This record gives sequence, C-alpha cells and structure tokens, in this order.
Amino acid sequence: MVFGEHLALYRGPDGAPVAAQDRCLHRAGMLSKGAVRDGCLECPYHGWTYGSQGKLERVPSMGDASAPGGRRLPGPEALERDGYVYVRFELGPENFEPFRMPHWGEKGWGHVRLTNVFKNDVTNCVENFVDIPHTSFVHRGLFRSPKRQKLTASVERANGSVVTRYHGETDNLGIYSWFLNPSGREISHVDSFHMPNVTCVEYEFGPRRRFVITSQSVPAEGGKTTVHTDLAYDYGIWNWIAGPLVRRAGQAVIDQDLEILAAQQEVMRRTPGEFSHSPADVIHVMIESVRRDLEAGRDPRRLPGMSQEIEFWV
Ligand code: FES
Ligand SMILES: [Fe+2]
Repeated sequence: MVFGEHLALYRGPDGAPVAAQDRCLHRAGMLSKGAVRDGCLECPYHGWTYGSQGKLERVPSMGDASAPGGRRLPGPEALERDGYVYVRFELGPENFEPFRMPHWGEKGWGHVRLTNVFKNDVTNCVENFVDIPHTSFVHRGLFRSPKRQKLTASVERANGSVVTRYHGETDNLGIYSWFLNPSGREISHVDSFHMPNVTCVEYEFGPRRRFVITSQSVPAEGGKTTVHTDLAYDYGIWNWIAGPLVRRAGQAVIDQDLEILAAQQEVMRRTPGEFSHSPADVIHVMIESVRRDLEAGRDPRRLPGMSQEIEFWV
C-alpha cells in the first residue's frame, strides 16, 4: 500500500520488478493473492496471466487461443535499487533518483532490514528518527539516559537536505556503550534528512566500529507510514555474529518509537495545534520547511541555504 494505492508486486520473466494495480482486468480478482509462475502473475480467480510490464499473456478459458492483445495492468513505474523496489507515481520532480543505501554491497559491512508501520505521518516519523532529546526518555537505558550532558551541533539546510553534525559526544549510548565505544573517545555523529522521506543516522566510534541507520518513510493510507529501516554495521571481527543482535536491538528501539508516535498522532487528532520549539528543534523546523515546500508542489532544492549552531543537553 503506497499513497493509498494497493499494489501487486512481482518479477516478470526478465526478472525486472512490476508494480501493478492490485485489481485483475477480468473480474477484479485480488492479484496480490495470486501466484507467480515462470515470471508471470496468475490471478487467483480465473487464472488470467500477466507478464512483463503487466501485459496480459494468457486467458485460460480461451484455451490455446492467444490472449486479446493490447491489454495491460495499470500501475506505477518500478525500479530496483540496493535491494529495494521503488515505485514512481506521477508525483514530484522529474528525474529524481532513489537515495542510495549507504555501504550496500561494500566489503566489511553487514545489513539488517526491518519494516514497520507507524501510526503517524511521514513528517513526524522522519523528525523522530533524527531527534536526539527523545532518546533519553523514550529509549531510557536502552539507548541513552538523561545525564545533563551538553552537546553542540551545526545544522545546515541545503539542496533539499538537512544535515546535523554533532560535537562533544563520548558516551551515553545506553547498554551497548561498552561495546560500541570502549575507549570513550569523541564519537563522530551525523544525522541527515534527504527529501522527500529519507533519514540517515551515522555513527563512527573508530575503525571497525561504525553503524548507519537509514530509514525510508513511505506514506501508506489513513495517516499511516510504512518505514523501511536499513541497519548497516561494520563491527570488524564481530560482524559475523552481529546480525541477530542488531536486529533485536533495532526492533526493540523501534517498538518504543511505534508507541510514542501513535500516541502523538492520537493527541494531534484530538487537539490540533501548533508546536513550540527549543533550540534542539531547529532541525525539525528546517525539515518542516522542506516538507512544506514539497507539499505545496515546489522544489525545496531551490530554497536558500541556511545554517545554525545549536547547543542542548541530553
Ligand atoms: S478476476 Fe482475475 S481471472 Fe477472473
Ligand atoms: Fe526513537
């Protein structure tokens, strides 16, 4: 389900992904419940069969006669990149390529992928994923605890992205601090948002201790957002056993965000209104300026550049 549209996805005979409206041309069979045989999608109702680019190939009730020509399932363009399938509706700027998944296919990097449906909109999801102050509360103990430590950061908006570089972070990474940063030196930490819907959280604790969390927030329906999270890690010799641990820790953190974001949406529905900001929220204000521009049909890459130094306590 993307932008309120139900899609049936399959690989055609050439292996290329096809995204089709989830509705059989014949009698509205639900194609996503069909089967794929030899690269063709077979409708579960009367077996009409579709091939590459959704072309109707076979109508079983017509025996060996060829299927009526020129019939094709409608659907958005589909594209495969870095292990994800992207669909493009007639929305947004032309020639806009999907965000490349950091370190995908690179030697020394492992990846774990999670998909979750958040009960909140894209803007509130992406803001949560690059929001540090909430981690001490929502993920208390698991990932940070309130310690009244001062952090500084520079926040920059340019070319449809908002990039935040943090300074002065050493520890306070919760139960995994001992593993992630045993020497306690300053961490390199950069968070970024990339239009329209991607966030990237990059940590480097030193050689062979690096991870990057990339989240793609896709509008589903009814104010919900499907979030695809790619957790990329380079833990050196520990890589071979890290996968299940990364998966478990990642999902535990996401479960807490699922709950807090569902509650936020419920409150916003009950009591709509404005937000109030602290210096740490400059990041969100800049992200909202990009998202608002997109919603108004403008291209946020044309917004003037902007940068600000902030300090806050976690
Ligand atoms: S509805 Fe799909 S084959 Fe009849
Ligand atoms: Fe969170």
